[in-house]
Amino acid sequence: MRAIAIDDFGAPPALHDLPVPQPVAGEVLVRVQASSVNGFDLSVAKGYLKDAMEHRFPVVLGKDFAGTVEATGPGVETLQVGDAVFGVVMKPELGDGAFGEYVTAPAAFIAKVPAGLEVARAGALGLAGTAALDAVDAIAPNSGETVLVSGATGGVGAFAVQLLRARGIDVIATASSDEKEAFVRDLGAGNVVDYRGDLAAVVTAIRPDGPDAALHLAGDGAALATLCAPGGRVASTLGLSPDSVADAEVQIIPVMAAPTTETLDRLAAAVLDGTLAVPIARTYALADVPQAFADFAGGTLGKLAVTVD
Ligand SMILES: NC(=O)c1ccc[n+]([C@@H]2O[C@H](COP(=O)([O-])OP(=O)(O)OC[C@H]3O[C@@H](n4cnc5c(N)ncnc54)[C@H](OP(=O)(O)O)[C@@H]3O)[C@@H](O)[C@H]2O)c1
Repeated sequence: MRAIAIDDFGAPPALHDLPVPQPVAGEVLVRVQASSVNGFDLSVAKGYLKDAMEHRFPVVLGKDFAGTVEATGPGVETLQVGDAVFGVVMKPELGDGAFGEYVTAPAAFIAKVPAGLEVARAGALGLAGTAALDAVDAIAPNSGETVLVSGATGGVGAFAVQLLRARGIDVIATASSDEKEAFVRDLGAGNVVDYRGDLAAVVTAIRPDGPDAALHLAGDGAALATLCAPGGRVASTLGLSPDSVADAEVQIIPVMAAPTTETLDRLAAAVLDGTLAVPIARTYALADVPQAFADFAGGTLGKLAVTVD
Protein backbone atom coordinates (compact mmCIF):
# COMPACT_ATOMS: atom_id res chain seq x y z
CA MET A 1 0.00 0.00 0.00
CA ARG A 2 1.02 3.63 -0.43
CA ALA A 3 1.81 5.44 2.83
CA ILE A 4 3.69 8.49 4.08
CA ALA A 5 6.38 7.23 6.44
CA ILE A 6 9.75 8.05 7.96
CA ASP A 7 12.67 5.58 7.99
CA ASP A 8 14.52 7.08 10.95
CA PHE A 9 14.28 9.79 13.60
CA GLY A 10 14.05 13.14 11.84
CA ALA A 11 14.16 11.61 8.34
CA PRO A 12 11.99 13.43 5.79
CA PRO A 13 8.46 12.00 5.44
CA ALA A 14 8.14 10.33 2.03
CA LEU A 15 5.79 8.12 0.05
CA HIS A 16 6.54 4.43 0.70
CA ASP A 17 5.20 1.15 -0.65
CA LEU A 18 4.48 -0.97 2.45
CA PRO A 19 2.65 -4.21 3.29
CA VAL A 20 -0.98 -3.86 4.39
CA PRO A 21 -1.00 -4.15 8.24
CA GLN A 22 -3.01 -6.91 9.91
CA PRO A 23 -5.31 -6.27 12.90
CA VAL A 24 -4.42 -7.95 16.21
CA ALA A 25 -6.86 -8.59 19.06
CA GLY A 26 -9.10 -5.59 19.70
CA GLU A 27 -8.13 -3.87 16.43
CA VAL A 28 -9.77 -3.35 13.07
CA LEU A 29 -8.26 -2.83 9.63
CA VAL A 30 -9.62 0.32 7.99
CA ARG A 31 -9.40 1.29 4.32
CA VAL A 32 -8.57 4.98 4.80
CA GLN A 33 -10.40 7.59 2.76
CA ALA A 34 -9.68 10.75 4.73
CA SER A 35 -7.29 12.06 7.36
CA SER A 36 -5.90 15.36 8.59
CA VAL A 37 -2.72 16.94 9.91
CA ASN A 38 -2.10 17.37 13.64
CA GLY A 39 0.86 18.90 15.44
CA PHE A 40 1.65 15.43 16.79
CA ASP A 41 2.45 14.23 13.24
CA LEU A 42 5.05 16.96 12.77
CA SER A 43 6.57 16.17 16.16
CA VAL A 44 6.95 12.49 15.22
CA ALA A 45 8.46 13.43 11.84
CA LYS A 46 11.03 15.65 13.52
CA GLY A 47 12.05 12.88 15.91
CA TYR A 48 10.83 14.73 19.00
CA LEU A 49 9.24 11.59 20.44
CA LYS A 50 12.44 9.53 20.23
CA ASP A 51 12.65 9.02 23.98
CA ALA A 52 8.91 9.09 24.67
CA MET A 53 7.58 6.19 22.55
CA GLU A 54 8.89 3.05 20.87
CA HIS A 55 9.34 3.60 17.11
CA ARG A 56 8.88 0.64 14.73
CA PHE A 57 10.38 1.87 11.45
CA PRO A 58 9.21 2.59 8.88
CA VAL A 59 6.85 4.69 10.99
CA VAL A 60 3.71 5.64 9.07
CA LEU A 61 2.57 9.10 10.17
CA GLY A 62 -0.99 10.32 10.80
CA LYS A 63 -3.39 10.05 13.75
CA ASP A 64 -6.85 10.88 12.34
CA PHE A 65 -8.72 8.67 9.91
CA ALA A 66 -12.10 8.01 8.36
CA GLY A 67 -12.88 5.12 6.06
CA THR A 68 -14.38 1.64 5.91
CA VAL A 69 -13.72 -1.44 8.06
CA GLU A 70 -12.02 -4.09 5.91
CA ALA A 71 -11.34 -6.72 8.60
CA THR A 72 -11.74 -7.16 12.34
CA GLY A 73 -9.28 -8.70 14.77
CA PRO A 74 -10.17 -11.21 17.49
CA GLY A 75 -12.49 -9.89 20.19
CA VAL A 76 -13.94 -6.96 18.26
CA GLU A 77 -17.71 -7.00 18.64
CA THR A 78 -18.70 -3.37 18.20
CA LEU A 79 -17.65 -3.00 14.56
CA GLN A 80 -18.20 -5.07 11.42
CA VAL A 81 -16.68 -5.32 7.97
CA GLY A 82 -18.23 -2.61 5.79
CA ASP A 83 -18.92 -0.13 8.61
CA ALA A 84 -18.10 3.50 7.83
CA VAL A 85 -15.91 4.63 10.73
CA PHE A 86 -13.67 7.41 11.98
CA GLY A 87 -11.20 7.60 14.82
CA VAL A 88 -7.66 8.09 16.00
CA VAL A 89 -4.67 5.73 15.89
CA MET A 90 -3.96 5.24 19.61
CA LYS A 91 -1.22 2.68 20.28
CA PRO A 92 1.59 2.51 22.81
CA GLU A 93 4.15 2.43 19.99
CA LEU A 94 4.59 4.32 16.71
CA GLY A 95 4.51 2.32 13.46
CA ASP A 96 0.99 2.18 12.07
CA GLY A 97 -0.44 5.51 10.96
CA ALA A 98 -3.36 7.03 9.11
CA PHE A 99 -1.44 8.54 6.17
CA GLY A 100 -1.75 5.31 4.19
CA GLU A 101 -4.26 3.34 2.20
CA TYR A 102 -4.90 1.06 5.19
CA VAL A 103 -4.46 1.41 8.93
CA THR A 104 -5.00 -0.87 11.92
CA ALA A 105 -6.30 0.76 15.09
CA PRO A 106 -7.95 -0.29 18.37
CA ALA A 107 -11.76 -0.39 18.15
CA ALA A 108 -11.89 1.43 21.51
CA PHE A 109 -10.85 4.64 19.72
CA ILE A 110 -13.14 4.31 16.71
CA ALA A 111 -16.79 5.32 16.15
CA LYS A 112 -19.26 4.80 13.33
CA VAL A 113 -19.74 7.69 10.91
CA PRO A 114 -23.42 8.60 11.16
CA ALA A 115 -25.45 9.44 8.04
CA GLY A 116 -25.05 13.16 7.41
CA LEU A 117 -21.39 13.41 8.47
CA GLU A 118 -19.19 13.65 5.36
CA VAL A 119 -16.22 11.29 5.39
CA ALA A 120 -13.78 14.14 4.65
CA ARG A 121 -14.98 16.00 7.75
CA ALA A 122 -15.02 12.86 9.88
CA GLY A 123 -11.36 12.38 8.93
CA ALA A 124 -10.49 15.81 10.33
CA LEU A 125 -12.49 15.52 13.53
CA GLY A 126 -10.86 12.88 15.76
CA LEU A 127 -7.80 14.15 17.59
CA ALA A 128 -8.34 17.93 17.51
CA GLY A 129 -12.06 17.53 18.22
CA THR A 130 -11.33 15.30 21.19
CA ALA A 131 -8.65 17.63 22.55
CA ALA A 132 -11.14 20.51 22.30
CA LEU A 133 -13.98 18.58 23.95
CA ASP A 134 -11.76 17.21 26.72
CA ALA A 135 -10.37 20.71 27.38
CA VAL A 136 -13.85 22.25 27.53
CA ASP A 137 -15.07 19.43 29.80
CA ALA A 138 -12.01 19.98 32.02
CA ILE A 139 -12.92 23.60 32.79
CA ALA A 140 -16.64 22.67 33.10
CA PRO A 141 -17.85 26.14 32.10
CA ASN A 142 -21.23 27.43 33.22
CA SER A 143 -23.52 29.31 30.85
CA GLY A 144 -22.78 33.02 30.94
CA GLU A 145 -19.13 32.64 31.94
CA THR A 146 -16.29 34.12 29.90
CA VAL A 147 -13.50 31.86 28.58
CA LEU A 148 -10.27 33.00 26.92
CA VAL A 149 -9.11 30.64 24.15
CA SER A 150 -5.39 31.02 23.39
CA GLY A 151 -4.71 29.34 20.04
CA ALA A 152 -8.29 29.74 18.82
CA THR A 153 -7.34 29.78 15.14
CA GLY A 154 -5.81 26.28 15.11
CA GLY A 155 -7.57 22.96 14.72
CA VAL A 156 -8.20 22.41 18.43
CA GLY A 157 -9.10 26.06 18.98
CA ALA A 158 -11.59 26.19 16.12
CA PHE A 159 -13.49 23.27 17.65
CA ALA A 160 -13.19 24.63 21.19
CA VAL A 161 -14.65 28.04 20.33
CA GLN A 162 -17.73 26.37 18.87
CA LEU A 163 -18.15 23.91 21.75
CA LEU A 164 -17.96 26.79 24.23
CA ARG A 165 -20.51 28.87 22.32
CA ALA A 166 -22.87 25.89 22.29
CA ARG A 167 -22.73 25.95 26.11
CA GLY A 168 -23.62 29.65 26.27
CA ILE A 169 -20.09 30.85 26.99
CA ASP A 170 -18.72 34.29 26.00
CA VAL A 171 -15.53 33.51 24.14
CA ILE A 172 -12.48 35.77 23.93
CA ALA A 173 -10.35 34.31 21.12
CA THR A 174 -6.78 35.00 20.05
CA ALA A 175 -6.05 35.74 16.38
CA SER A 176 -3.14 37.40 14.60
CA SER A 177 -4.64 38.90 11.41
CA ASP A 178 -7.90 40.33 10.07
CA GLU A 179 -8.58 37.07 8.22
CA LYS A 180 -8.02 35.03 11.38
CA GLU A 181 -10.18 37.42 13.41
CA ALA A 182 -13.03 37.00 10.90
CA PHE A 183 -12.57 33.22 11.11
CA VAL A 184 -12.94 33.01 14.91
CA ARG A 185 -15.80 35.52 15.00
CA ASP A 186 -17.59 33.36 12.46
CA LEU A 187 -17.13 30.38 14.81
CA GLY A 188 -18.77 32.32 17.64
CA ALA A 189 -16.09 34.37 19.42
CA GLY A 190 -17.60 37.58 20.77
CA ASN A 191 -14.23 39.25 21.40
CA VAL A 192 -10.90 38.83 19.65
CA VAL A 193 -7.40 39.66 20.90
CA ASP A 194 -4.23 39.85 18.81
CA TYR A 195 -1.75 37.77 20.82
CA ARG A 196 1.19 39.67 19.26
CA GLY A 197 0.19 42.80 21.17
CA ASP A 198 -0.49 43.40 24.88
CA LEU A 199 -2.79 40.45 25.48
CA ALA A 200 -3.20 41.17 29.19
CA ALA A 201 -4.21 44.79 28.66
CA VAL A 202 -6.80 43.97 26.01
CA VAL A 203 -8.30 41.06 27.95
CA THR A 204 -8.50 43.17 31.11
CA ALA A 205 -10.20 45.97 29.17
CA ILE A 206 -12.81 43.46 27.95
CA ARG A 207 -13.21 41.73 31.29
CA PRO A 208 -11.73 43.76 34.22
CA ASP A 209 -12.01 40.89 36.73
CA GLY A 210 -10.44 38.48 34.25
CA PRO A 211 -12.02 35.59 32.36
CA ASP A 212 -13.56 32.79 34.42
CA ALA A 213 -11.38 30.23 32.65
CA ALA A 214 -8.88 29.84 29.82
CA LEU A 215 -7.89 27.19 27.31
CA HIS A 216 -4.13 27.00 26.82
CA LEU A 217 -3.72 25.67 23.27
CA ALA A 218 -0.85 28.03 22.39
CA GLY A 219 1.19 30.81 23.96
CA ASP A 220 2.28 31.38 27.55
CA GLY A 221 0.13 29.28 29.88
CA ALA A 222 1.39 30.85 33.09
CA ALA A 223 0.50 34.31 31.76
CA LEU A 224 -3.01 33.07 30.93
CA ALA A 225 -3.39 31.77 34.47
CA THR A 226 -2.50 35.12 36.01
CA LEU A 227 -5.14 36.78 33.80
CA CYS A 228 -7.99 34.58 35.08
CA ALA A 229 -10.35 35.66 37.83
CA PRO A 230 -9.81 34.15 41.32
CA GLY A 231 -11.19 30.62 41.30
CA GLY A 232 -10.48 30.37 37.57
CA ARG A 233 -9.55 27.22 35.66
CA VAL A 234 -6.94 26.75 32.92
CA ALA A 235 -7.02 23.61 30.77
CA SER A 236 -3.76 23.04 28.89
CA THR A 237 -3.07 20.72 25.95
CA LEU A 238 0.56 21.84 26.09
CA GLY A 239 1.62 20.22 29.32
CA LEU A 240 1.35 23.30 31.55
CA SER A 241 1.78 21.85 35.02
CA PRO A 242 0.14 23.14 38.21
CA ASP A 243 3.66 23.62 39.66
CA SER A 244 4.59 26.16 36.98
CA VAL A 245 1.97 28.64 38.16
CA ALA A 246 2.37 30.35 41.52
CA ASP A 247 -1.23 31.63 41.70
CA ALA A 248 -2.91 29.09 43.97
CA GLU A 249 -6.32 30.64 43.26
CA VAL A 250 -6.33 29.32 39.69
CA GLN A 251 -6.68 25.61 38.96
CA ILE A 252 -4.40 24.23 36.21
CA ILE A 253 -5.73 21.12 34.45
CA PRO A 254 -3.41 19.27 32.02
CA VAL A 255 -5.36 17.64 29.16
CA MET A 256 -4.34 14.46 27.32
CA ALA A 257 -6.89 13.84 24.59
CA ALA A 258 -8.66 10.46 25.01
CA PRO A 259 -10.57 9.82 21.77
CA THR A 260 -12.78 7.03 23.05
CA THR A 261 -15.76 5.80 21.03
CA GLU A 262 -18.04 7.70 23.42
CA THR A 263 -16.19 10.98 22.88
CA LEU A 264 -16.10 10.49 19.10
CA ASP A 265 -19.87 9.80 19.17
CA ARG A 266 -20.41 13.07 21.08
CA LEU A 267 -18.40 14.97 18.47
CA ALA A 268 -20.32 13.39 15.59
CA ALA A 269 -23.62 14.22 17.31
CA ALA A 270 -22.53 17.86 17.69
CA VAL A 271 -21.76 18.02 13.97
CA LEU A 272 -25.15 16.53 13.13
CA ASP A 273 -27.10 18.89 15.41
CA GLY A 274 -25.37 21.86 13.79
CA THR A 275 -23.41 23.10 16.82
CA LEU A 276 -20.02 21.94 15.47
CA ALA A 277 -18.61 22.63 12.01
CA VAL A 278 -15.39 20.97 10.85
CA PRO A 279 -13.54 23.91 9.28
CA ILE A 280 -11.20 22.53 6.59
CA ALA A 281 -8.89 25.21 5.24
CA ARG A 282 -7.32 23.06 2.52
CA THR A 283 -7.29 19.44 1.33
CA TYR A 284 -4.17 17.56 0.16
CA ALA A 285 -3.64 14.30 -1.71
CA LEU A 286 -1.73 11.59 0.20
CA ALA A 287 1.47 12.22 -1.78
CA ASP A 288 1.32 15.91 -0.82
CA VAL A 289 1.41 15.35 2.95
CA PRO A 290 4.98 16.78 3.14
CA GLN A 291 3.62 20.02 1.63
CA ALA A 292 0.72 19.92 4.11
CA PHE A 293 3.28 19.69 6.94
CA ALA A 294 5.11 22.75 5.61
CA ASP A 295 1.86 24.70 5.35
CA PHE A 296 0.76 23.58 8.85
CA ALA A 297 4.05 24.82 10.29
CA GLY A 298 3.43 28.20 8.63
CA GLY A 299 0.14 28.77 10.48
CA THR A 300 -3.32 27.27 10.36
CA LEU A 301 -6.95 28.34 10.12
CA GLY A 302 -8.79 25.27 11.34
CA LYS A 303 -7.85 21.90 9.82
CA LEU A 304 -5.69 20.74 6.91
CA ALA A 305 -7.34 17.62 5.48
CA VAL A 306 -5.84 14.70 3.52
CA THR A 307 -7.70 12.50 1.06
CA VAL A 308 -6.57 8.97 0.28
CA ASP A 309 -7.86 7.42 -2.94
N1 LIG B 1 -2.43 17.03 24.83
C1 LIG B 1 -3.08 16.51 23.81
O1 LIG B 1 -3.64 15.41 23.89
C2 LIG B 1 -3.13 17.27 22.51
C3 LIG B 1 -4.01 16.89 21.49
C4 LIG B 1 -4.08 17.67 20.34
C5 LIG B 1 -3.27 18.80 20.23
N2 LIG B 1 -2.39 19.10 21.21
C6 LIG B 1 -1.54 20.30 21.13
O2 LIG B 1 -2.41 21.43 21.23
C7 LIG B 1 -1.88 22.52 20.49
C8 LIG B 1 -2.93 23.03 19.52
O3 LIG B 1 -3.14 22.05 18.53
P1 LIG B 1 -3.65 22.45 17.08
O4 LIG B 1 -3.79 21.20 16.30
O5 LIG B 1 -4.82 23.36 17.21
O6 LIG B 1 -2.40 23.28 16.55
P2 LIG B 1 -2.36 24.36 15.41
O7 LIG B 1 -3.41 24.01 14.38
O8 LIG B 1 -0.95 24.52 15.03
O9 LIG B 1 -2.88 25.69 16.12
C9 LIG B 1 -2.13 26.47 16.96
C10 LIG B 1 -2.68 27.89 16.80
O10 LIG B 1 -2.11 28.72 17.79
C11 LIG B 1 -1.87 29.99 17.24
N3 LIG B 1 -0.80 30.62 17.98
C12 LIG B 1 0.54 30.53 17.78
N4 LIG B 1 1.20 31.21 18.73
C13 LIG B 1 0.25 31.74 19.54
C14 LIG B 1 0.30 32.54 20.71
N5 LIG B 1 1.46 32.96 21.25
N6 LIG B 1 -0.87 32.89 21.29
C15 LIG B 1 -2.05 32.48 20.79
N7 LIG B 1 -2.17 31.73 19.67
C16 LIG B 1 -1.02 31.35 19.07
C17 LIG B 1 -1.54 29.73 15.81
O11 LIG B 1 -1.96 30.83 15.08
P3 LIG B 1 -1.06 31.61 14.01
O12 LIG B 1 -1.52 31.12 12.68
O13 LIG B 1 -1.38 33.02 14.28
O14 LIG B 1 0.40 31.25 14.28
C18 LIG B 1 -2.35 28.48 15.47
O15 LIG B 1 -3.56 28.84 14.82
C19 LIG B 1 -0.63 21.97 19.77
O16 LIG B 1 0.50 22.34 20.50
C20 LIG B 1 -0.82 20.47 19.80
O17 LIG B 1 0.41 19.77 19.76
C21 LIG B 1 -2.30 18.37 22.34
